[in-house]
Amino acid sequence: MQPLIEATGISKRYVMSTKTVEVLSGASLTVAEGEAVAVIGKSGAGKSTLLHILGTLDHPDTGSVRICGKDVYAGTNREREHMRSRDLGFVFQSYHLLPELDVIENVMLPAMAQRGFLTRVAPCRFRAAELLDAVGLADRASHTPMELSGGEQQRVALARALMNDPQILLADEPTGNLDSSTGSLVLEHLFHLSRDRGHALVIVTHNEQVAASCDRAVRLIEGRIEG
Ligand SMILES: Nc1ncnc2c1ncn2[C@@H]1O[C@H](COP(=O)(O)OP(=O)(O)OP(=O)(O)O)[C@@H](O)[C@H]1O
Ligand SMILES: [Mg+2]
Repeated sequence: MQPLIEATGISKRYVMSTKTVEVLSGASLTVAEGEAVAVIGKSGAGKSTLLHILGTLDHPDTGSVRICGKDVYAGTNREREHMRSRDLGFVFQSYHLLPELDVIENVMLPAMAQRGFLTRVAPCRFRAAELLDAVGLADRASHTPMELSGGEQQRVALARALMNDPQILLADEPTGNLDSSTGSLVLEHLFHLSRDRGHALVIVTHNEQVAASCDRAVRLIEGRIEG
């Protein structure tokens, strides 16, 4: 079976005026259908950088990424945008909620970016409300993000990532700001996607328990993935 994510030999360096930071140097990661993989590693190891590259958001210097069999960085910007909206969900380390939209509109954003949204506003709103309910925020739909706590914003970001029902979910510390029972609720929701629905999950985490509940944990160390 073809893996949903296949990243091979990824290198990435940041060149600044006085020094160069070699963040990734030949990192490879393959994630199969139905698999949940934890990426662990020290702060600054390059976990978020790797996740952005897997998520079509940042070009690697060398190496290739295949998402659902398609070579991400061989294609055009337009093709990447399409993949991003159809195949990928992203929970960022800083949540990137739009302050001028209310909570339910933030959840609906990925659907708004898709063609034909205007003919599907009502069902999209319904789905967004269901997702908010699933993350325990049904009663906060009309609030703005500024009115929510950090952990609540994190759950809105998760609901938004699930809006288009992506095959691949990339989550950067999705439980970092949550107490353990809310964190377990969020994880249960994520594992339902991989275990019952065959989607692929990559979860960056500093939490050993979270890593242990994934099917596999890999460590990012000196720019490479160690299994
Ligand atoms: N745009 C940038 N310009 C220069 N350096 C950067 C840039 N983005 C990241 N870096 C550097 O790359 C390294 C890896 O950053 P990254 O955010 O991927 O780490 P991380 O493993 O996610 O860390 P954390 O666990 O703290 O979130 C860091 O040393 C960081 O300073
Ligand atoms: Mg990070």
